[in-house]
Amino acid sequence: MPAKKVPAPHPDLESVLVTDAQIRRRVRSLGRELKKTYGNEEITVVSIMNGALIFTADLLREVDNVVRLDCIRTTSYGSSTESHGTPKLVHGLTLDVADRHVLIVDDILDTGKTLSLIASMIRGMRPASLRVCVLLDKKGRRQVPFEADFVGFGIPDKFVVGYGLDFAERYRNLHCIGVLKASKQKAHL
Ligand code: IMP
Ligand code: MG
Repeated sequence: MPAKKVPAPHPDLESVLVTDAQIRRRVRSLGRELKKTYGNEEITVVSIMNGALIFTADLLREVDNVVRLDCIRTTSYGSSTESHGTPKLVHGLTLDVADRHVLIVDDILDTGKTLSLIASMIRGMRPASLRVCVLLDKKGRRQVPFEADFVGFGIPDKFVVGYGLDFAERYRNLHCIGVLKASKQKAHL
């Protein structure tokens, strides 16, 4: 039998941390975890742009609940691989969240600053429940104590791109999640 053809990773990647197939499998099982938690309740999803765009699109299609979707935006890394300063909300919620079951979806939990800011903002709006789902968790990098309720993959302290995650707005469209070559972390600045 001919060997299964594995697509070559992007030339700017030093290594692939999570493959396309692993992501698809895990997103399906996260959908099952959500279903187990929420049953048939309606979910108000708050997705943090732009990083969570692709993950959110795939995850939401793995649940058959009634879903309301809102997207918010915070200040980003800019063209750097290091988080600096305190994140600020740039574009806020448009849906009401009071008495709703709210699920925040983000690409990655890193220092914890972004999600703790957003979670405390939403908590102040008195939702019926508030949970957080992230695709990736860099536990070793936390500066603010914060745990997500649903985590796709724990990853080491490496700057990663793909499947929504960017460097200077590039690489979001890669199917896998990979570590960017050091030489490319200086490009596009
Ligand atoms: P925080 O440091 O937990 O506040 O994360 C802030 C945001 O930085 C995340 O939502 C991501 O969009 C971005 N981020 C953190 N780590 C990475 C990475 O390794 N690659 C790309 N973006 C990242
Ligand atoms: Mg983000």
